[in-house]
Amino acid sequence: MSVEHRPQGPLQDSPFLRACRREPVPHTPVWFMRQAGRSLPEYRQLRQGTGMLESCTRPEMVTEITLQPVRRHGVDAAIYFSDIVVPLKALGLDLDIKPGVGPVVAEPVRSEADLARLRPLEPDDVSYVSEAIGMLVKELGDTPLIGFAGAPFTLASYLVEGGPSRNHERTKAMMYGQPRLWAALLERLARITSTFLQVQIEAGASAVQLFDSWVGALAPEDYRRRVMPASASVFEAVAGYGVPRIHFGVGTGELLGLLGEAGADVVGVDWRVPLDEAARRIGPGKAVQGNLDPAVLFAPREAVEEQAGRVLESARGLEGHVFNLGHGVLPDTDPGALTALVEYVHQRTAR
Ligand code: CP3
Repeated sequence: MSVEHRPQGPLQDSPFLRACRREPVPHTPVWFMRQAGRSLPEYRQLRQGTGMLESCTRPEMVTEITLQPVRRHGVDAAIYFSDIVVPLKALGLDLDIKPGVGPVVAEPVRSEADLARLRPLEPDDVSYVSEAIGMLVKELGDTPLIGFAGAPFTLASYLVEGGPSRNHERTKAMMYGQPRLWAALLERLARITSTFLQVQIEAGASAVQLFDSWVGALAPEDYRRRVMPASASVFEAVAGYGVPRIHFGVGTGELLGLLGEAGADVVGVDWRVPLDEAARRIGPGKAVQGNLDPAVLFAPREAVEEQAGRVLESARGLEGHVFNLGHGVLPDTDPGALTALVEYVHQRTAR
């Protein structure tokens, strides 16, 4: 991103956006994947009687849920409350999110004919997203809002399997056995995801994260040939906006270089690779995000601080570090532990 062309002002100078651009920061910025919802009692109360996907279409509710962790924890960025399957639902696919299970697709996508159901996404299909983001950026002021979407591989896995999967066997069967169908599926998903991110940026999101949560299931050569072109086209589609683009997956130790190469400005790292080693694998010119093991938050406070200290230690000297967990907040996490962690990172890194 060229520094000359970036807009000025307190939002652009926020620690989170500065760290994404690898500029000096007053303290290491912190946010948590899955910070909105899940562990917060005020979230559970608000959501009572409203299904997950239904709640994503209600701008007032989305705004309130997105703001809850910002108020409670003092995190340096908000993440838009939604889900990776929201644009697929908006196309009219029969899918639902089952509590404790995840996204479930009534009719999996497994043939050429099934592709027809994946028509292009129009901004009007998700007008509630633009509306909610418009409300949110006013409320958030100088706190950046992160938009997000699911990456083609992770979305394809849900669509082909019909739901969450440990081994992604049907997905891989298509990838290896029907390479043309696979490429066509990923291309359609890449276009849908590109539009979904563009809608969020145009409505006011000041960074975007592409979640390729399950891509760690792939060997690097397969990722490079069969998946990366689709993800790269998503990054390319939003490059012109100049907002930082974050790329995240779980179990991606062997893929970190390629996740950067796909077009990210910031690469998210899970807890399996220390950040200094991750930065070496990613190469110069990119910031890193991560990477405390979310399970550490179940240990006593001193142990959490010891492990968070290790993360900060391994990030010392890197250009651009956004503190986060190595994956999303686990549902039973004590919210107080998250608040204390934000405070700890801010204090330890104050310059
Ligand atoms: O980060 C945030 O706080 C913003 C909200 C957000 C949700 N989903 C809300 C949600 C984000 C960023 C997501 C992304 C998402 N959704 C991913 C990528 C991130 C990751 O964890 O790897 C994935 C793989 C999904 C698919 C999905 N949706 C799963 C696996 C689940 C969990 C099912 C469960 O109950 O354990 C969901 C449901 C979901 N998405 C919930 C929330 C708050 C829980 C639904 C509820 O509260 O009823």
